[in-house]
Amino acid sequence: MEQKNKIALVTGGSRGLGKDMALRLAEKGIDVILTYNNQVQDAQAVVAQIQQTGQKAATLKLNTGDLKSFGSFVTQLQDVLHKTFDTTYFDYLVNNAGIGGYTPIADVSEDMFDELLNIHFKGVYFLTQKLLLLMNDGGGIINVSSGLTRISVPGSSVYASMKGAIEIFTRYLAKELGARSIRANIIAPGAIMTDFGGGHLRNDEQLQQFISNVTALGRPGVAEDIGGVVAFLCTEDARWVNGQRIEISGGMQL
Ligand SMILES: NC(=O)c1ccc[n+]([C@@H]2O[C@H](COP(=O)([O-])OP(=O)(O)OC[C@H]3O[C@@H](n4cnc5c(N)ncnc54)[C@H](OP(=O)(O)O)[C@@H]3O)[C@@H](O)[C@H]2O)c1
Repeated sequence: MEQKNKIALVTGGSRGLGKDMALRLAEKGIDVILTYNNQVQDAQAVVAQIQQTGQKAATLKLNTGDLKSFGSFVTQLQDVLHKTFDTTYFDYLVNNAGIGGYTPIADVSEDMFDELLNIHFKGVYFLTQKLLLLMNDGGGIINVSSGLTRISVPGSSVYASMKGAIEIFTRYLAKELGARSIRANIIAPGAIMTDFGGGHLRNDEQLQQFISNVTALGRPGVAEDIGGVVAFLCTEDARWVNGQRIEISGGMQL
């Protein structure tokens, strides 16, 4: 009988870390569905790049902060799974999509708080709840935290608090889903030069120098430092890694 490829769903796979995750998953022979929020052309380019390697890929629009849209997203996902992948279920969920937010505590508005809450915690929580119904037993969930849950940098109180909440959620996922042999882990990237936060690290040489000085490996991160770890977590080699926070920072502020 023909063995079907595993399928991973990567949120925010159009750019940055999510794009690298999608490409590295495909290198491991895993088919990929990646979501975008606005940048449809970037997302389609990643799909084309994956398809050139011989893996299947598709993209869907998703705003992870718009919880009311999740019902119709699930319907569209079911449709894509049937039409493009000839199946009903997928195997790995990578909750990567996100935005930055840098404001001192005194200036944080309720709107800003709610936006980060919805995208980084509430959205991840309820999207995962819904998608678990479409996941095969034996699969996995990879959430994305940040070095900022361990290292406190002024201006990141809301963002880091949401990431902290997702770290705890990840442990609970691991515990509750063990019965389905679904593993849940969370990666915590250090400072990575992407479009994130308006490209604030990528565009600021002084900040890059500061990060280099506090990083054992002596440089800021790039997207290509991250995706391979996520791809590894979606393989049989990682079958005993569960409920863990894995920091990927080149040894920042050790
Ligand atoms: N870069 C860092 O230094 C760093 C460090 C630690 C953790 N992280 C985390 O890593 C993840 C990815 O960050 P990145 O650096 O790759 O950022 P990025 O380059 O700005 O890419 C963000 C991705 O998320 C998508 N996205 C943004 N808002 C969304 C929303 N409301 N709903 C759905 N998708 C949305 C974007 O889609 P469009 O292309 O359609 O806009 C894009 O694919 C985030 O969770 C971030 O918190 C980043």
